[in-house]
Amino acid sequence: MEPRYSRESKCYKTSRVFPTDVNNHNTLFGGKLMSYIDDIASIAAHKHCRRSVVTASTDSVDFLHPIKPSDSVCLEAFVTWTGKSSMEVFVKVVTEDLKTGNRTIAATSFLTFVALDDNKKPVPVPQVVPETEEETKLHESAPQRAELRRIRREESKKLAEFLTMKNPWE
Ligand SMILES: CC(C)(COP(=O)(O)OP(=O)(O)OC[C@H]1O[C@@H](n2cnc3c(N)ncnc32)[C@H](O)[C@@H]1OP(=O)(O)O)[C@@H](O)C(=O)NCCC(=O)NCCS
Repeated sequence: MEPRYSRESKCYKTSRVFPTDVNNHNTLFGGKLMSYIDDIASIAAHKHCRRSVVTASTDSVDFLHPIKPSDSVCLEAFVTWTGKSSMEVFVKVVTEDLKTGNRTIAATSFLTFVALDDNKKPVPVPQVVPETEEETKLHESAPQRAELRRIRREESKKLAEFLTMKNPWE
């Protein structure tokens, strides 16, 4: 399989903050931003492998700054690293105060997607080639994050075996 450049999976989305998108602090509702992040990250993964993909995990969403109704919200996503069938996608959220033009990194997130074949089984994906300084830094640090994810997945499986599925009234 031919490797692909990070830039080939890159996508962008810019949105306003509408009154229906805010929380009781009048800043963007976290769940709304998480939905934007999963949405754009899935497109980046899909563009990289040209296969259907599923979200396997979200490492974290770090909300670094509140997002105000007077801001625009721009998300950038691209594939930083690949395993065999999995792809790590980085999402950067940049807000712009529309009155002043000041920009802030409001959130960052790493997600993992898995490419599936027509029988919904994991299928190999092309490797990724970084070019810019940002892409290279994220590519080089990815194996460390993948190892932490592997450990966390084992822990999640053990926890799931222990947890009850009973409803409180049963
Ligand atoms: C993700 C999924 C396809 C993995 O399938 P599986 O049969 O467990 O496959 P494997 O164990 O062989 O893992 C396949 C790849 O996924 C990766 N993976 C699986 N679970 C992962 C997790 N929680 N975090 C990161 N990577 C994960 C594995 O490391 C492996 O990567 P590699 O091929 O690059 O080495 C399966 O668990 C699934 O369908 N989960 C639900 C996904 C979903 O519904 N998402 C929407 C959220 S509502």
